[in-house]
Amino acid sequence: MAYEKKEQLYEGKAKKVYATQDPNVVIVSYKDDATAFNGLKKGTITGKGAINNRMTNNLMRRLEAKGVPTHLVEELSDRETAVKKVSIVPLEVIIRNLSAGSFAKRYGVEEGIVFDAPTIEFSYKNDDLGDPLINTYHALALKLATAEEIALIKNYAFTVNELLKGFMKEIGIDLVDFKLEFGRTADGQIVLADEISPDTCRLWDEKTHEKLDKDRFRRDLGGAEEAYEEVMRRLTGVE
Ligand code: TMP
Ligand code: ASP
Repeated sequence: MAYEKKEQLYEGKAKKVYATQDPNVVIVSYKDDATAFNGLKKGTITGKGAINNRMTNNLMRRLEAKGVPTHLVEELSDRETAVKKVSIVPLEVIIRNLSAGSFAKRYGVEEGIVFDAPTIEFSYKNDDLGDPLINTYHALALKLATAEEIALIKNYAFTVNELLKGFMKEIGIDLVDFKLEFGRTADGQIVLADEISPDTCRLWDEKTHEKLDKDRFRRDLGGAEEAYEEVMRRLTGVE
């Protein structure tokens, strides 16, 4: 089916969303804009939009094949993809395999400690509040999701971790941590939504431990463009 791009429904920090002629399908358009610290730091990572679009679709296709439902419908171009229209569950789901970022800071530990088992945490997706950490009791009290939905989301998130860890290991990358978002389709199904990219994952080269993700931008390390290209090059090399 040829999806026609209609009016813009939403503009986020890294993507725009457009309506189509199908009420159950929207088009996501990935931007090169990069932000960090809840939008306080702004910049551009040239070529990022196209890479994140293609990388997300590559990974979501492979997750689907392993039984994880996603919002993916069809890649339309370098930067644009048709996805199922969902209402996003306002919980950012973060899985960690090694200490880094806010975990290292919050608990006063070094980065790079390998955990015996992965951890999960939720943030309340609310820019005005700065995406505060939230527990499942509070999420239920705020009616952000039902207990059944939260149980399903946790299950999917740990499954995605095992699968993604494997995909990354094949290309010499350690999956340190990542953030997922889930959505509800029109018929109430929970599906993996948003993106899976170097914007939303920490990816370290397994040998050199070089950072191949958005921390290069967040921490002014330089070479963000090259890092994103490197991950994409390795991923498409094994397809
Ligand atoms: P954190 O260590 O800053 O909490 O980040 C954990 C993971 O979540 C990391 O892979 C980056 C990702 N992330 C996002 O995708 N969006 C965000 O807004 C934040 C804060 C983190
Ligand atoms: N995307 C988030 C923002 O701008 C934060 C991050 O990825 O570090 O605020």
